[in-house]
Amino acid sequence: MQANEITRRDVLVQAGALLSGIALGGVGTAGAAATSKGAASAPAAAAGRITIGKDLTVNRLGFGAMRITGAGIWGDPPDIDEAKRVLRRAVEIGVNFIDTADSYGPEVSERLIAEALYPYPKGLVIATKGGIVRPGPDKWVRDGRPEHLREACEASLRRLRVERIDLYQLHAIDSAVPLEDSLGEIAKLQKEGKIRHVGVSNFDVDELARGRKVVEIVSVQNRYNVSDRSSDPVLAACERDGLAFIPWSPLSQSPRDSHAGSRAALEQWAAGHKVSFPQAAIAWLLARSPAMLPIPGTSKVEHLEENVAAAALKITPEEMRAIG
Ligand SMILES: NC(=O)c1ccc[n+]([C@@H]2O[C@H](COP(=O)([O-])OP(=O)(O)OC[C@H]3O[C@@H](n4cnc5c(N)ncnc54)[C@H](OP(=O)(O)O)[C@@H]3O)[C@@H](O)[C@H]2O)c1
Repeated sequence: MQANEITRRDVLVQAGALLSGIALGGVGTAGAAATSKGAASAPAAAAGRITIGKDLTVNRLGFGAMRITGAGIWGDPPDIDEAKRVLRRAVEIGVNFIDTADSYGPEVSERLIAEALYPYPKGLVIATKGGIVRPGPDKWVRDGRPEHLREACEASLRRLRVERIDLYQLHAIDSAVPLEDSLGEIAKLQKEGKIRHVGVSNFDVDELARGRKVVEIVSVQNRYNVSDRSSDPVLAACERDGLAFIPWSPLSQSPRDSHAGSRAALEQWAAGHKVSFPQAAIAWLLARSPAMLPIPGTSKVEHLEENVAAAALKITPEEMRAIG
């Protein structure tokens, strides 16, 4: 089938067909091998694979677990059972990279991940972040002090029930603390075996270059989508040096003014291919760069399945050029 003949219905049907071949026996120890084996042929695998830090290979469509919390990313989600179903379903359909942070809830997202998925299936990579504290709903306060980061990392280890965090990301730079001090403490935690790989978030190219003098950085998580390309220089640095680029706000749900023409063109592409705009937004990111590891988030199984089915959508290079 030609890529441009794939419709949204086809994508969902394909996903369903693939799903029927996957063992859905839960994600306990017994289900782990089946889930891991199934992950290679599951819908998320259609996005291809990416290797983070030379030894963590995951399907190139992940899941962002910020939305499985309450309003204002505060407290429990309105439907805890649905939030856990989202996490379990994500793994069943081949997602093996989940992004979270201690500040989502706070603590709620990490706790629900452990409650829903522990013991974790083989090959599942959970990336978390530290460096932001939450005084209330919709309030985000940076805290990059070394003592805070140590405490935050150790609390994440306990909540996630792991001995080592696969990817620990500095959530954002605290303007009151040199980034070298924050990353220096994270480097110590890595040496102590509490962290496997280090990532950063909300870094520009200069900050990334400074950070890489302190510790080996394997990924950058910045806001990026069809209508926000402000991190293009960081994406270029990631492509050049083999780092993963993890775009947050991938679905362009609250577009900023720049690249309005591209967004409109992508909307047209979505309509022409009978897929939803979120699906097109994911396909656009996957086509934009092989360094890209999108982490669309949702609180609903229906949206999760729709988003992951987009891994099978292909936007051709000519179409990418036309979208701009
Ligand atoms: N590093 C950082 O500073 C930072 C900042 C923000 C986010 N993040 C990470 O990035 C992840 C993604 O970012 P994000 O959640 O802000 O943006 P997003 O994934 O682009 O958008 C999520 C929003 O879109 C809705 N949605 C998802 N799928 C949909 C679909 N198929 N149809 C219609 N609506 C849909 C969700 O609502 P429903 O729940 O109703 O589906 C939710 O409100 C987060 O989960 C988090 O892990 C990182």
